[in-house]
Amino acid sequence: MKTIDLSGKLAIVSGGGGEIGYALCLGLADAGAKVVALDINTDRIDGGNDRILAVRVDLSDTGEIASAVEIICAEHGEADILVHAAGINIASPVADFDEQAWDAVFNVNLKSAFFLAKALVPHFRDGSIGKIVFISSISAQLGYPGLHAYTASKGGLDALVRNLSTELAADGICVNGIAPGTTKTGMTKALWEDEQKCRAHEATIPMGRVADCQDHVGPLLFLCSEMSDYVTGQIICCDGGLTSVQADFIDLKLRHGNE
Ligand SMILES: NC(=O)c1ccc[n+]([C@@H]2O[C@H](COP(=O)([O-])OP(=O)(O)OC[C@H]3O[C@@H](n4cnc5c(N)ncnc54)[C@H](O)[C@@H]3O)[C@@H](O)[C@H]2O)c1
Repeated sequence: MKTIDLSGKLAIVSGGGGEIGYALCLGLADAGAKVVALDINTDRIDGGNDRILAVRVDLSDTGEIASAVEIICAEHGEADILVHAAGINIASPVADFDEQAWDAVFNVNLKSAFFLAKALVPHFRDGSIGKIVFISSISAQLGYPGLHAYTASKGGLDALVRNLSTELAADGICVNGIAPGTTKTGMTKALWEDEQKCRAHEATIPMGRVADCQDHVGPLLFLCSEMSDYVTGQIICCDGGLTSVQADFIDLKLRHGNE
């Protein structure tokens, strides 16, 4: 089987200090890329990983984004890959959802994606296809009470993938997204740590389980490799089939032996 070789590539990963982001950083590094992770919390990387460089940045500050990108490219040269995996989630009923929470979510999840791309596009390597991948969410397509800003920001991210792809195709840059379903991280532990809730949720997923961070690495490597050089403006749902099925039509007993 042909394997993905990203040696010689420079990848910048926002949210690389997070659980999914770090798995993506490791996947890119394993494929040979030089990886720079941007995060407000770099503890996971500073704990001794010599394959991934950590840069502490508050992505809700567009000035910090621009200067971090300038410094990284001055030091490491032209970029090949941008992954935006940073994200926050604030849940609250409509009546209590305040403007500060709305802005905080939009700044990290959506606004920073655009300003990261804006800062990095002039630094993409000439002569090869550049890759931008935004980590969205299936919540861009489904309703979740309380997650008003989060779902709207992810919907905006999907729209931004399509829109940037149209303009940046002329610069030889592909722009795509990955929309994970529920993934076992701290962000969703209230769901998957509760056995009853988790089983009820997994009963709505054709593959019969929630995702691990590792489930998103393969799709990312594909979207960052030359195997996808003619793929742009697309969102890959990495959700075990959840967004493809009407949940009450799943016969999990037949497929997985679950009650
Ligand atoms: N966990 C899930 O079920 C799930 C499902 C769909 C999509 N996602 C998306 O995947 C991505 C990663 O999520 P995760 O579950 O690994 O969560 P996580 O909290 O482990 O990772 C998010 C990272 O973003 C960083 N971050 C937050 N605010 C920042 C800021 N102002 N500046 C710089 N960095 C900041 C955090 O420090 C953290 O490292 C997010 O975009 C999330 O929306 C997660």
